[in-house]
Amino acid sequence: MVHEILEAARLAPSASNRQPWRFMVVTDGKEKARLRKICLDQAFIEEAPVVLVCCADLTAYSQSSRKKRAQEFIDYGVTETLSGRFADPAYRAALPEPGPDLGTFLTAAVANTYIAIEHMVLTATALGLGTCWVGALGNEGEIDAFFGLPQTTVVVAVLPVGYPTVIPPPRPRISLSEILLRPLAALSR
Ligand SMILES: Cc1cc2nc3c(=O)[nH]c(=O)nc-3n(C[C@H](O)[C@H](O)[C@H](O)COP(=O)(O)O)c2cc1C
Repeated sequence: MVHEILEAARLAPSASNRQPWRFMVVTDGKEKARLRKICLDQAFIEEAPVVLVCCADLTAYSQSSRKKRAQEFIDYGVTETLSGRFADPAYRAALPEPGPDLGTFLTAAVANTYIAIEHMVLTATALGLGTCWVGALGNEGEIDAFFGLPQTTVVVAVLPVGYPTVIPPPRPRISLSEILLRPLAALSR
């Protein structure tokens, strides 16, 4: 089931197919206890049999990585299906390069990694498992330091996975009219 969950993340879409997501599967009791402490002492993190540490790898936006992805687009014939400016190799070649500060690409890396994480949440649920997306990651860099992650690998979420002891009632949601910025026009067929 862990493999199936990870496979759902691997197959997630990402802008320009950069695939910046990276994961660590944590099952060791001591490591889970440390994660629990760092993540504001949320007990379920230690109680879950498997905890996925979800990271964004900023080197996915480096020049060499971009070259690799572009070559794959060519090898797989994807370039023929690109449209507009993206179909123009000159446009793609002129895209900005990450500088020494890879943090420039943090927003894109996190946004795309979040998509993969939600794939895992939904797959786990479909398998009859429960998850809880943990965004309370303690002090910045604490988890990264504990696992000795490189500076370019940023922890963006912790995802405990296990069999749920209870199925809680749905949490409240704001109404459709509150999320629509203007009233929904009648949809024609
Ligand atoms: C980015 C993000 C961070 C979250 N962080 C936490 C957390 O640290 N601890 C926790 O118990 N729940 C956390 N949650 C879960 C939310 O509280 C939960 O999704 C929300 O209350 C709606 O409930 P539902 O997912 O059961 O519908 C997080 C959810 C997201 C998407």
